[in-house]
Amino acid sequence: MAKDSIFRSYYTVLLLALVCSALIAVTAVGLRPQQESNRLQDRRKNILYAAGLYEKGKNIDELFAPIETRYIELATGLYLSAEQLDSKSKPKGRVLESEEDIAGLHLLEQYSPVYLVKQNGKLSQIILPVRGKGLWSTMYAYVAIDSDLTTIRGISFYEHGETPGLGGEIENRKWQEGWQGKKLYTPDGGMELRVIKGTAEATGDKRLYQIDGLSGATLTAKGVSKLMEFWFGEHGFKPYLLQLKNRDKSNG
Ligand SMILES: Cc1cc2nc3c(=O)[nH]c(=O)nc-3n(C[C@H](O)[C@H](O)[C@H](O)COP(=O)(O)O)c2cc1C
Repeated sequence: MAKDSIFRSYYTVLLLALVCSALIAVTAVGLRPQQESNRLQDRRKNILYAAGLYEKGKNIDELFAPIETRYIELATGLYLSAEQLDSKSKPKGRVLESEEDIAGLHLLEQYSPVYLVKQNGKLSQIILPVRGKGLWSTMYAYVAIDSDLTTIRGISFYEHGETPGLGGEIENRKWQEGWQGKKLYTPDGGMELRVIKGTAEATGDKRLYQIDGLSGATLTAKGVSKLMEFWFGEHGFKPYLLQLKNRDKSNG
């Protein structure tokens, strides 16, 4: 090909583009296991944080080792059998009716992981994964519940696309600390916990069901209340928590 030929220029550009895309593809595929491993570490760190078991500087896998991961069927609240877990055909879940879909999920999975923390063989807390729509994004969190099945031990929002400084304050550890000791359910079983506008009351029973609002981010806060209402209601983890409660009763 002549040195100043236009085809030679096209050929060089094409070759360069092919080499670069091959390099990018190889790098992306090569880094995938590392990305997966980082994602898993981050999830584990957030589960530990919600449970109050995270210790800075300590190995995440070692801290996570005593936590037992199990899978439940959301609709019944029952643990999955080994056959169900091994089954190759993973269920797709179901599309939620709009009146049920208060957390904006659209698709609800059939199974969910739950993370159990035991002390001297007895269940001490359960960490549950929750998610729901905020103003701009789906917000993901882990909620740790005491063995009384209503008191919150901690929460950790670990992924969202809300505005930093506004809705993004859901990842502020100070705000998350305000969840500790709050109650999900009233004594008659109603799901009362809400993020309110302003500051939670300092005294009285109501304060147990109130989380401080996020200033300038009422819409994100509403999303947080709705996702809690969904996940601790009939379509979320309530059947599972009722199963645990009944099992506890029958054990004496
Ligand atoms: C650029 C921009 C980003 C915003 N990001 C958020 C957000 O992440 N979460 C939120 O609830 N409101 C956000 N808002 C504000 C909402 O539009 C709305 O005004 C606010 O939720 C009302 O909250 P307030 O009643 O506490 O002021 C944003 C507004 C602007 C202009």
